[in-house]
Amino acid sequence: MSDISVIPTRSALLRRSFRKTFPAAVRGEGVYVWDGGGKRYLDFAGSAAVNFIGHGVREIGAVMAEQAKQLEFVHSSQFTTPVAEEYAQELLEFAGKNFSGGGVYFTSGGSEAIEAALKLARQYQVEIGQGRRFQMISRGQSYHGSTLGALAVSGNKRRREMYLPMVREFAHVAFPYCYRCAYDCTDGCRNCGQEYAADLEKAIEAAQGQAAAFIVEPVSGATLGAVVPPPGYLRSVADTCRRHGVLLIADEVMTGMGRTGRNFAVEHGEIAPDILVAAKGLSSGYAPLGTVIATKRVVDAIAEGSGVFMHGFTYNSHPISVAAGRGVLKVLQRDNLVRAADGSREGSAAALLRVALEKLRGVNAVGDVRGIGLLWGVEFVADKASKKPFPPELNFAGRVGQAAAKRGLMVYPMQGCVDGVAGDHLLIAPPAVITSEEIGWAAETLGEAIAEAARSIA
Ligand SMILES: Cc1ncc(COP(=O)(O)O)c(C=O)c1O
Repeated sequence: MSDISVIPTRSALLRRSFRKTFPAAVRGEGVYVWDGGGKRYLDFAGSAAVNFIGHGVREIGAVMAEQAKQLEFVHSSQFTTPVAEEYAQELLEFAGKNFSGGGVYFTSGGSEAIEAALKLARQYQVEIGQGRRFQMISRGQSYHGSTLGALAVSGNKRRREMYLPMVREFAHVAFPYCYRCAYDCTDGCRNCGQEYAADLEKAIEAAQGQAAAFIVEPVSGATLGAVVPPPGYLRSVADTCRRHGVLLIADEVMTGMGRTGRNFAVEHGEIAPDILVAAKGLSSGYAPLGTVIATKRVVDAIAEGSGVFMHGFTYNSHPISVAAGRGVLKVLQRDNLVRAADGSREGSAAALLRVALEKLRGVNAVGDVRGIGLLWGVEFVADKASKKPFPPELNFAGRVGQAAAKRGLMVYPMQGCVDGVAGDHLLIAPPAVITSEEIGWAAETLGEAIAEAARSIA
């Protein structure tokens, strides 16, 4: 297979789409991935906001191989491992003093971690004598994963519609999206955060004492395309949760582990969630890995209550995945990659990326460019003045993605930001090791790809 660059639409592997051909990736290094035909792609989306330390970092492969040689697996009902214990402690420290004395639970990815977080929140409420609380409130236009529990709390219409009869529905509340602000703000959305947060209070009251937790992406990920909430929003929802005895779960699967220029994005909002979920950048793609980080209060409730977390997967704390994650954390700290993702630092990769992407605002089809750190969204419109989206069937974002891939640039196209169906956008989330030249080339090439997509529908 190594001499094949593109594999036909149908093969023994059940892939995501039968309508699309996929290049066969065979090698990665830094910000680049090569296919079997030798074509090089600049990974401007970090796959899907996954790769943060860059592809092909040899020492991660080495620590994984060493772990596999020493001990490939034990079951978490029978053993713990030094690597999981040490890494858990390091992650607690990385998560900051809010999590001091808390606990870390490892899974095989983001959706599993969300499932574990939802169950942990429910069990916490039961342990403290609040057994009536089971409802999980979330936001519309959100994404928390593809397993049924995670899908239930997600608001991504396209991804959940078919499965709705199979999921338990709870309230979905308002979500700030200032490019299309529901409050028609005239002050640059400096004050609408409270208005959006008020919707959560209403939903908690409507749940009549049954709300267990509220789950939120501190910066909206793929569904809306890197939408940063207005000032004060996160603080208001955190206060509301606290006042009502509702746990706050921060879904940092996409934003965590440095991508926004802080260890975790909640730090921008100066809030202290009860439970924090991370995946993607946690292992930077080197192994399937997710985590739930819980505060001391949450862990104490179980430790001093029933004493058993009623949940588990065979591959909790898988030694090789955990070794990969630990290695990634080491590289990320040693190479100051969180600082590289900090857009407020002059000359950082994030600051350069912001400047390069902002230039795209001049392109006809570009309605909005938004984001923070190394997580950006570019939203396309058919008409800039009215912000009218392209008809969804044109799949404008997909066309841009294809035109970019043809030029050796990988981006992450999405649809549905306007109302769950209409609205085209791209997610840009490169590895933190991207250089100034690479950013310049990628932004220019993206501009060309947008122009080609626009010509294709003219
Ligand atoms: C914010 C968020 N939460 C959860 C998930 C689910 O993670 P995974 O795909 O690893 O199951 C994703 C994946 O894109 C995500 O972006």
